[in-house]
Amino acid sequence: MRQKIVAGNWKMNNTLNEGLKLTTEIVNMVADEVRGDVKVILAPPFVLMPQVKNLIKNVDKIYLSAQNCNENVSGAFTGEVSASMISSIGATHVIIGHSERREYFKETNAQLAKKVDLALANNLTPIFCCGESLEIRESGNYETFICNQIKESLFHLSADEFSKVVIAYEPIWAIGTGKTASSQQAQEVHAALRKYVAGQYGDDIAESLSILYGGSCKPDNAKELFACPDVDGGLIGGASLKSRDFTDIVKSF
Ligand code: 13P
Repeated sequence: MRQKIVAGNWKMNNTLNEGLKLTTEIVNMVADEVRGDVKVILAPPFVLMPQVKNLIKNVDKIYLSAQNCNENVSGAFTGEVSASMISSIGATHVIIGHSERREYFKETNAQLAKKVDLALANNLTPIFCCGESLEIRESGNYETFICNQIKESLFHLSADEFSKVVIAYEPIWAIGTGKTASSQQAQEVHAALRKYVAGQYGDDIAESLSILYGGSCKPDNAKELFACPDVDGGLIGGASLKSRDFTDIVKSF
């Protein structure tokens, strides 16, 4: 059985009070309403992480993630945060290679490979993001493009290391646009990714890999998306900022 996961990527949203209120609401709703086999992950901005951790520390279904980490171990990188710092406050996951980081901060596949290595070395599960722009989607070469992102940032890992990774497919044209990939479009890419991973690491590892969908996933489309055989959950942006919407998405399996 593959792990079912719903992760909320808050991006650059929520002050301390807003973040604590949202977390408290999610903790209460998840405790009452969510079945035990779904892993719920919250990815607040760095400054909120210790206090969010404090609120979830006794909730076994909810885990803490960072939204990014630096590709260096430590040192003179003003404003940056290392994988070891993230791990030291009790986080378990880190989002790596989000399209917003690739686009606005020019992160490259090679740089992301280093981030993945440091995440794993610090016992963090990388939630590795991939996905194509509208231009690439329309060119028809999107599967090759996405598989290449995976190859260049992940295929240097040993089988044991790779088995600790979660992948999130986030078509850029569906992020924050209200335009969702149809369940068929999501399933097509997820199945292609799984097949590609099987070619490198074998069927067992590919079968146990959790592949999340991200891009305007909402309570009203999550059920259909999560029903696809190769969609193992979601990486949620906008809808993760509302406790009711986020919990309803978690309940969509
Ligand atoms: P939206 O759910 O707001 O489209 O964002 C998706 C995303 O980028 C999650 O990381």
